[in-house]
Formats: sequence, structure tokens, C-alpha cells
Amino acid sequence: MSRLNLAILISGRGSNMEALLRAAAAPDYPARPVLVLSNRPNALGLETALAAGVQAVAIDHKAYGKDREAFERAMDAALIGAGTEIIALAGFMRVLTPWFVGKWQGRMVNIHPSLLPKYKGLDTHQRAIDAGDTEAGATVHWVSPGVDDGEIIQQASLPILPGDTAETLAARLLPVEHALYPAALAKACAVVASVG
Ligand code: GAR
Repeated sequence: MSRLNLAILISGRGSNMEALLRAAAAPDYPARPVLVLSNRPNALGLETALAAGVQAVAIDHKAYGKDREAFERAMDAALIGAGTEIIALAGFMRVLTPWFVGKWQGRMVNIHPSLLPKYKGLDTHQRAIDAGDTEAGATVHWVSPGVDDGEIIQQASLPILPGDTAETLAARLLPVEHALYPAALAKACAVVASVG
């Protein structure tokens, strides 16, 4: 079985990245991590990736000021340099320009902490609680030019319990995300492999 070269983009803790690295340690997983890239030099996940033996680099978006495309051209060069074939955004908190999305469209997926199409953007858990929803969840989707707008690959849900806060809900959702993302990324790999 051929494995796709996987780059994971993070901004912080990197627990979803860690779940992907753990899944990809299995020899029959369809992706092989080649690069972890963070837009924040102090992201905890960079240490985790290095400890797992994966190349980890920071490209600080602040160094590029307001020039989003210049930042993305630097990311793009690092991704190409590592031989990237598929990108997983895992808590990557920068909005990407149409240029970057266009370059990687069909090869880039994201995990978002809501049952899309509900609650695109930020504060997903508080918004679900405020709306009186009885369930929350996470979605893995293809990245398209619209924020949190691409075709859904897979979702997982959990009940919102009486007394839940955004924090308790996020904490209960996290292990659900960690199970969802490796499964959904494997599906995405099958699609990318089929188009060549
Ligand atoms: C995760 O809950 C992920 O779904 C969310 O950020 C967290 C990152 O945690 N992503 C977004 O909000 C993207 N808009 P992690 O760094 O521990 O994986």
C-alpha cells in the first residue's frame, strides 16, 4: 500500500496532531507524517512532534505583518520541500487566502469543533449551549475558500449535558475528535489516492 506524505498544520497544543501521529504509527495507515508546521513558534505541539521523530518547524505569521500571502508562500515552500501530498489542519487558527486554498484544494482537510454547517468560526461550544442544542460534535471537512464551508467527510457527536459549560463540553469533545480525525483522514487519503 502506498502512503501519502502528510503535513499537519497546528497553532497550539496539538492534541489532534498527536492523535494523527499515533494512528500513522501503524504501518497500514494510509498517510506518513513528513512535517508538522506551526504559525506560532511557541506551540506546544512542536515539541510533541519532535519527540515523535517528525520534522517540526515554525513559520511565524507575525514576521510577515499583514502580508498573508507572503506568509503562505513560506508555508507552501516548506510543504513542497517536505514532499507533502495531503495536509491536515489540526487547530490551525489562521484563515487561509484563496491563493493557498486553491493550491491545495482537494488535498487539504480540517477538523472543526461543531456539527457543521452549524457554528462556523469561533466559540462553537458556547454558541451551541446558548442555542439550547442537545448535542454538539466535531466535523472533518475538505477545505474550501469559504471558512469552515467545505464538503463534509465525517462527523461525530455527543450529548450536551445539563450544566455543561463551553469548557466541560470542549473537554468531553476532545477524545471524540481524537477518534474521529484519524478515521476521517484515512477516508480523505483514499480519495486523494484515487485521483492520483
Ligand atoms: C480542537 O478542538 C479543534 O477542533 C479546534 O481547535 C482545537 C485544537 O486543539 N479547531 C478549531 O477551532 C478550528 N477552527 P489541539 O491543538 O489540541 O488539537
